[in-house]
Amino acid sequence: MTTTIEIGMLGFGTVGSGVIDRLTRAADQIEQMQGLRLHLAKVAVSHLNAPRQVPLPIGTRLTDSIEAVVTDPQIQVVIEVMGTLKPAEAAITTALRHGKSVVTANKDLIATAGHRLVALAKERSCDLLYEASVAGGIPILRTLADSYATDSIQGVSGIINGTANYILSAMTNGRSYQQALSLAQEAGYAEADPTNDVAGLDATYKLMILSQFAFGQPLTVAQVAPVGITTIDATVCQTAAENGWQIKLLAQAQRHDHQLYCRVAPVAVATGRALSRVDGVQNAVALRSAAVGESCYTGPGAGSTATANSVLNDVIVAAQRLVRGTRGPAFNHNHQHLTVHHLDTVAQAYLLFSDQPRNRIVETVETLGANVKSLAQGCYQTGTLLPAQRDQLRALGTLTLIPIENSVTWPLVASAQAIATHVAI
Ligand SMILES: NC(=O)c1ccc[n+]([C@@H]2O[C@H](COP(=O)([O-])OP(=O)(O)OC[C@H]3O[C@@H](n4cnc5c(N)ncnc54)[C@H](OP(=O)(O)O)[C@@H]3O)[C@@H](O)[C@H]2O)c1
Repeated sequence: MTTTIEIGMLGFGTVGSGVIDRLTRAADQIEQMQGLRLHLAKVAVSHLNAPRQVPLPIGTRLTDSIEAVVTDPQIQVVIEVMGTLKPAEAAITTALRHGKSVVTANKDLIATAGHRLVALAKERSCDLLYEASVAGGIPILRTLADSYATDSIQGVSGIINGTANYILSAMTNGRSYQQALSLAQEAGYAEADPTNDVAGLDATYKLMILSQFAFGQPLTVAQVAPVGITTIDATVCQTAAENGWQIKLLAQAQRHDHQLYCRVAPVAVATGRALSRVDGVQNAVALRSAAVGESCYTGPGAGSTATANSVLNDVIVAAQRLVRGTRGPAFNHNHQHLTVHHLDTVAQAYLLFSDQPRNRIVETVETLGANVKSLAQGCYQTGTLLPAQRDQLRALGTLTLIPIENSVTWPLVASAQAIATHVAI
């Protein structure tokens, strides 16, 4: 028996077009496999007369009124793919208050206001699902929620901003930062204002959501304190690659005892490791857990159809729960209380880049009590540096220090007082 579910959608841009395309192409498959006919009743947009990438299905109404969608008594599931913060939060709030289940791809909103919306969904016994908000086409949130039930996640390390990864890959292949950014914009991977991507804010929002699922611990932007890729130049990427390292913008959260250490920053990943091979706009999330050990999920982190697939999987889950009368369980059940620190507060090793004479660099690092080896002209690998040692080096201002993935020395040993030596380059 087939049940028809009435859907409303907010937004008909990149993702919204993909949703309509997938919905049209997979309608029979969904009906055959799930017993559901998903009927798109209304779509809200800003500009009613703007050209669209795909035709609106026959019988679907286009409107410029969000209200007309989220308060429509016929509509059972609302898809929010319009982006924005305040309008999207207001729209989802109204939809939930009207008893509708909601599916969204809006990471900015879920990262910053998700707690309010999750609480409201629980209060109204509605579903709020947002698989597409992290790593677009990779079903990482549901995997974390459902597939590690007896396991304990110890570390999450993600390449979760395709634009930044595209730019870093292009710089490794010889482009300047500006050339790489222009290429990303021409290919439609970077927006006209790429700030959120290159400054690490977009990756931070996604890490905030991932942390909820992996560790049950929310993070704030201030705790993550993102460092973007604008501080990295092409020479650094190329020299690192020639010496066995790929520079990646990593979003990381690592658990040690009851502490959670997080960071979004350019990190040196040893060539050969799974994350080092993730190039261009691809995304990847590497997990380290007690039972499974190391696992890595790779795929498209954005794009119309891949993201739409994640959105529609959520819609099918919401529709099934409507049919079965089982609405309301939270997407994420993991709640813990961990003390949050920045990963830079832990001793670790670094790649060091400097134009200063080799002897000076070696002497300076050794004066601080740390080891350093020269990899190539202007490129060095330090031994473990305490945060205070690292800060003293950074304060010199004539070098670039990039943390090396997986080089952390537990437990915490950092102490600003431990290092009193004055150094100068
Ligand atoms: N693009 C991706 O690959 C991707 C991947 C994962 C997640 N996401 C997330 O998915 C969401 C949508 O992204 P997108 O790339 O599809 O955006 P987009 O191409 O810019 O499309 C946005 C759509 O929302 C409509 N819209 C915006 N503000 C509105 C308002 N106040 N009232 C009514 N309609 C409004 C626009 O209408 P008009 O067309 O009339 O202007 C447009 O159709 C965002 O939260 C984004 O972060 C995107």
